[in-house]
Parts: sequence; structure tokens; C-alpha cells
Amino acid sequence: MARQLTFSIFRYNPNKPGDKPRMQEYTFEEFEGLTMFVALNKIREEMDPTLMFDFVCRAAICGSCAMMINGRPRLACKTMTINLPSRITVLPLPVFKLIGDLSVDTGTWFRNLQVKTESWIHTNKKFDPNALEVRMDNKIAEQIYEPERCVECGCCVATCVTANIREDFIGATGINRVSRFMMDPRDERSDAEYYEVVGNEDGAFGCVGLMACADLCPMEIPLQTQLAYARRKMAAAGLKLQFAGVKIS
Ligand code: FES
Repeated sequence: MARQLTFSIFRYNPNKPGDKPRMQEYTFEEFEGLTMFVALNKIREEMDPTLMFDFVCRAAICGSCAMMINGRPRLACKTMTINLPSRITVLPLPVFKLIGDLSVDTGTWFRNLQVKTESWIHTNKKFDPNALEVRMDNKIAEQIYEPERCVECGCCVATCVTANIREDFIGATGINRVSRFMMDPRDERSDAEYYEVVGNEDGAFGCVGLMACADLCPMEIPLQTQLAYARRKMAAAGLKLQFAGVKIS
């Protein structure tokens, strides 16, 4: 016999005058292959058209459907209900601005992150539209591919104790992003220049090492490895700058 599932879902529309945060329950019978994404759509289509949540791809690519499911940040489209108990609590991701119910604004957070960490190739080479493509060493390309798999869902930020208490911390996703450019031979920034950007407590040295980000990343990116890589480089750059007599703020 199929299980009865009860979904206890956070409801609150900050744009609706007088609305109050509350939990609302919906119940229906589980069926084969049910994901949280399908469950939420069923609730919205058949029980409550006002329920707000985000999705685009349904395939763990766009990163839009991240939410707290039974206390853990997860992608709704990648979470099968069969792996959860019959009572499922769903909350929006913390840290990000709430739009309504389960929908949060990760876009502004990630845009600010890209600007803050200067997430683009820095080069003095002049752009030549006729230049032939330059082949990258396979090993380096594979290394860069790891951090590039980030879908910017915000799960690592939501689960990070530092990001939850310090709004300027760039989180595992930010450090992962910076390490991607550090590995890229086309980026001509020196370690000292990177140090200016992430050699501080809002960057590579802000992590307190609980590593929930690495445990809960839906894409299983080795965030610990990226953090260790960026930290080693920034620690060496900091020491070099100090020996050179540069005042580090
Ligand atoms: S809908 Fe795109 S990651 Fe879930």
C-alpha cells in the first residue's frame, strides 16, 4: 500500500499586507518516481495555486529549486520522496532574501558575488577576433571543470554557519569560483592581486571548517579541496607580502 505523505510547507508572502509566516499542511498518496519538485507542482496545480517556489530545468542544472527539506538544503528536482520519511517539512533557504513561501532571491546574491570576486578572466592581451583557439592542457581543463560544475543553487551558502551570521562572507561557492580562475592559465592575475580580493575573513579565511557545504553540495563538488587550494595560495601570498614589508590590512 502506498504511503500517505504529509508536506508541512512554510507560507508567507512579505508583499501581502497583513500576511503572517506560518506552516501549512498538504496530504496525498505517494506514487512511484515522485520527486519533491513533482510533489510541489501537484500541490500547486491541484490544491493551492498560491504556493510559490522556483524551478526552471527539472534536471539539477539551473539550481533554482533549492530549499530546506527536512532541515537540509537540497534540490527539489533531485530529491525523491521515497528517501524521506512520510512527514516532510519544507522551508525556504536561509541567508537569501525571501520572495515568498519557498522562493528566494539567489540571483542578486550571486551577481554581487561575481562582482566582488571579479569572476572573469583578467588579461592584458588585446582581443583578436581572428585569433585561432588555443588548446588548453587536458589536465588543467579537467581541474577547471570541477569548480565549473557549480549550478549556483545556494545550498552551500544556506548550510554555512559563517554565511548565516556574516552577510559579507563569500561562502564555499565564492571560494570555489575564485579557485577556478586561479587555475586558469589565461587569467594573468598574480597571487598578490587575488589576495586583495579574497585574502581576508570574508574570503578564504572566513571558513570555520565545519564543511557542511561539502557534505551537502547537490553536485558533489569537492569544495574542501577547492578551499584548501585557495587557502594555501592565499596564505603563501600573505606571507610573501608581509616579508616584502607590505602592510596587510
Ligand atoms: S529545477 Fe533546475 S535544478 Fe532543480
